[in-house]
Amino acid sequence: MKKLIKNANIVTEADMYKADVLIDGETIECVGVDIECADSEIIDASGRLLLPGAVDVHTHMDLDVGFTRACDDWTSGTIAAACGGTTTVVDHMAFAPGDAALMHQVDTYHALADGHAVIDYGFHGVLQLMNDSKLEEMKQIARREGITSWKAYMTYGDNMIDDEWLFKILKTAADEGLVIPAHCENDALVELTKAELGALGKLQAKYHPLARPADAEAEAVSRLLHIAKAAGEAAAYVVHLSSEAGLKEVIKVRESGQKHFGVETCTQYLALTDEAYSDDQEGLKAIMSPPLRKKADNDALWAALARDGMIDVVATDHCPFTFKEQKQMGKDDFRKCPNGAPGVEERLPIMYSEGVSKGRISLPQLVKYCCTEPARIFGLYPKKGAIIPGADADIVVFNPEAKHILTIDDMHGANDYTCYEGFNLTGRIEKVFARGNLIVEDNVFLGSKGAGRYLRRGISSLI
Ligand code: URP
Ligand code: ZN
Repeated sequence: MKKLIKNANIVTEADMYKADVLIDGETIECVGVDIECADSEIIDASGRLLLPGAVDVHTHMDLDVGFTRACDDWTSGTIAAACGGTTTVVDHMAFAPGDAALMHQVDTYHALADGHAVIDYGFHGVLQLMNDSKLEEMKQIARREGITSWKAYMTYGDNMIDDEWLFKILKTAADEGLVIPAHCENDALVELTKAELGALGKLQAKYHPLARPADAEAEAVSRLLHIAKAAGEAAAYVVHLSSEAGLKEVIKVRESGQKHFGVETCTQYLALTDEAYSDDQEGLKAIMSPPLRKKADNDALWAALARDGMIDVVATDHCPFTFKEQKQMGKDDFRKCPNGAPGVEERLPIMYSEGVSKGRISLPQLVKYCCTEPARIFGLYPKKGAIIPGADADIVVFNPEAKHILTIDDMHGANDYTCYEGFNLTGRIEKVFARGNLIVEDNVFLGSKGAGRYLRRGISSLI
């Protein structure tokens, strides 16, 4: 039976309008005023917003970091995503052990995710220990598997990509129409500062942000974008931009006229600050790279989102480790703490409450940054990221008036904490449809393990 959502306020990246949405099976058949359809199931959405199912293009489900692994597997992590209004994830793969071929991680990730994910998913490839045959392999996998984005870490021990390889990778990406997401931090600055702090016995959580200063990010952002330009305006993509200093470098490059690159920030760099590190124990919860910054950095990133054309995407870098056990590995030395924090379930509610409801961004901007633009940049649009005829019927029914307090007790991932505990939220997700199926209602997950499909991704809008 078809489903007919009546009287909704549909939000697009550009505006908001009242209409009905007719869903036939997995697909949006039409969007229009006063649609009639006999024998359809009617869903009354009066007073509610209809948002496209959100797209999170930066998660790390079941990430293996060598000494432990992220506590959400592909089932618990995607259930958390679904309950937070996210119906598609594109996950960054872990580094491969040793010098394995690039395909090793693709096979590993299919084994982890296929038959386990509850929502649709894709993978970003990961580049490490580079050689010419891996560049060739990247092209082949991109064509065969639809993995059209390949991440380069500008820091991270032996797996970091140096400038020589960054240039070669970006040149190949420019020739092949691929996107290169990059973790931007100056490696020497981070590693030497970490060693200095260690030598001084400064090992509590509060030293983590000092070891990874905003200048390390700003320098690497600038270097990445300059190298991308020299490589033929390759489609570089800055992941998890955290600082005003980094943003200033982005703005300089935007104002120089360079196009074809993308910039992502994450919920935590908008809504949390480095005050989270003031308590030695609690601070472990927020050990992530890059670290949380100052309120001035939050404000600068919000202002950039409000301005349009500076930042393209808000993602999460969801990478959860339990506080009671895993994060305790860093209790005597922050450098031994697994880096990362949960966030996939919190993004949409926080972005609405802290962003839209507090007047920092508009509703269409929320849709642009969390749904439409990530789908475009990572080759998923127009099937994902918009409520339009022919798209997958991935839809969030949102009550903009409801208020509640965010707490881990109401959440669905495998973790034992949220960085947003006690946030007073305005707005609440009431229903989530994924390819036409109702998978979440009133904070209860109704979907099924394995219902998510692997997404072969197409060409990026950055190309
Ligand atoms: O601290 C973080 N961001 N952990 C996840 C892995 C990564 O570097 O993105
Ligand atoms: Zn990440």
